[in-house]
Amino acid sequence: MAPTTPSRALLEAGAPAPPARSSLPAAEEVAPSLRKWLGVDMSILDVDACQVVHEGADQLPWRIGGQWELCRQVADRGRAEFIADEDALLVLAIPLAGHDSPLVAVGGFLTRVVDGGQDAARLARQFGVEEEALRRWAHRQTPVRGDTLERLAGLVLDHLSVADRADSLQHDVEKLTAQLCGMYEEVSLIYRLTHNLTISRSGSDLARLTLDWLLEVVPARGVAVLLWRPEASRDLSGAEWITAGEGVISRDEFALLMRQLQLVERVRPLVLNRPGTAQLDGMIPRLKELIAVPLLEGERLFGWLVALNHAEGGEFGTIEADLLTSASAILGIHCGNIELYDTQADALASFVRAMTSAIDAKDAYTRGHSERVARVAVRLAQELGCPRQLVERLYLGGLLHDVGKIGISDEVLSKPGKLTAEEFEHIKQHTRIGYNILVDIKQLADVLPIVLYHHEAWDGSGYPDKLAGENIPFVARITAVADAFDAMQSDRIYRRGLTDEQLDTIIRGGAGKQWDAQVVSAFFSAREDIRHIAKSELGEPPVDLKHCFGMRK
Ligand SMILES: [Fe+2]
Ligand SMILES: [Fe+2]
Repeated sequence: MAPTTPSRALLEAGAPAPPARSSLPAAEEVAPSLRKWLGVDMSILDVDACQVVHEGADQLPWRIGGQWELCRQVADRGRAEFIADEDALLVLAIPLAGHDSPLVAVGGFLTRVVDGGQDAARLARQFGVEEEALRRWAHRQTPVRGDTLERLAGLVLDHLSVADRADSLQHDVEKLTAQLCGMYEEVSLIYRLTHNLTISRSGSDLARLTLDWLLEVVPARGVAVLLWRPEASRDLSGAEWITAGEGVISRDEFALLMRQLQLVERVRPLVLNRPGTAQLDGMIPRLKELIAVPLLEGERLFGWLVALNHAEGGEFGTIEADLLTSASAILGIHCGNIELYDTQADALASFVRAMTSAIDAKDAYTRGHSERVARVAVRLAQELGCPRQLVERLYLGGLLHDVGKIGISDEVLSKPGKLTAEEFEHIKQHTRIGYNILVDIKQLADVLPIVLYHHEAWDGSGYPDKLAGENIPFVARITAVADAFDAMQSDRIYRRGLTDEQLDTIIRGGAGKQWDAQVVSAFFSAREDIRHIAKSELGEPPVDLKHCFGMRK
């Protein structure tokens, strides 16, 4: 028989607001605590599922069916209650996690010793159990007073509430810790990226660094960057696909994704987890989770940064998306800067070529002089073991060393025969004129010493400042040998170019007087190559002019 006695509230669960169902304690975890506190192994019911989730050992062998509704009410009210209150026997129900919890612990308690006759018969009848079973059960119980039980239940509820609050706080702490870790990783990633932002680093280089670092902080099987110039190719055939970690998808598969997800129209990060990726099933079955963030600089789209498949089988969320967004912002700006730099470098290269053509056009007999001087100077610099930057500077300086001849009159420049002292003074002005032409172009600042001092002599007899020895900039000393060599080997209107033997004799004789002896020595070490430069049709330049402007190396 189901108990008919109205239940009465014992104690409110005490303090704070009840936790959400997500923080429910596991029945098997809380059962041992209840047994310790109350001395009885209570059964635990899930009143939502109408299921006994923990069968208390040695519990009153009653039929539980009639108790569900009462237990559900206890769960709703979030208070411990006696759901049966009979003479000698109480049935206590304790909600395990405040309001809305589906878990309720239920247990029977004797309040006094039950005699094996009348009491046992009455209780057996009331609780619908066999009299003998009830008698055996009662024999094993230790009676506890009702008011003691009330106090104990109150303490249990308080304890559960505190434990639950601690769980909730622990959960908050873990969440905060995860957020802080995410923020730290984001800041650390930005720090590392910005410290590697030099215009000399290509977009691909920075993308590779970024991917390696991202793989350390984003739980993804693979990460990738698609570097794309939409104006160069709409179909991605010229796009670069750089990956780190597992190569979950190929560039062509990413192209499919772009179409399917309409990524080109999207300027915001896309986070796709299962079952969202299910729409892609059949197309790319290996793809389970995805973050795709556009690489933007203003409205210019340079590609995408993507994370592929969660490493632990979980889902990508805002922390991962934020990390990729920060990295993509820096990559996008870098790509924009490189594009701007390349545009400037193209314009400067065109300027230098135009100036070189203009110089050569002044005197048909010296055509190709600037290019040859540049190439001989490069070969000398290589022979002298100069670093790449210096080699590039010498190439650019060689092209521009005589730029000041633009300001020298054609009659004097092309005059056959010996120049008068006055004419020679006029020609000597080309070093200063050249300097003045270039001095305001900051990307050409490195070549100014070459333009100004390529006619200085080791013994101090040169011009314009009569510098001597190591006071002459090293690049100018190298260019001086290359310049003199080409001038002597070229035909002039008034004379044929010198023979190799004549030329070698003059240069050897000028070591330590006209020219730096170590440069002259390098000249003879590289003599065959230099002869080839002087005599052959000039092919491809030895260095890319765009790399000579002092920023991208
Ligand atoms: Fe010159
Ligand atoms: Fe020259």
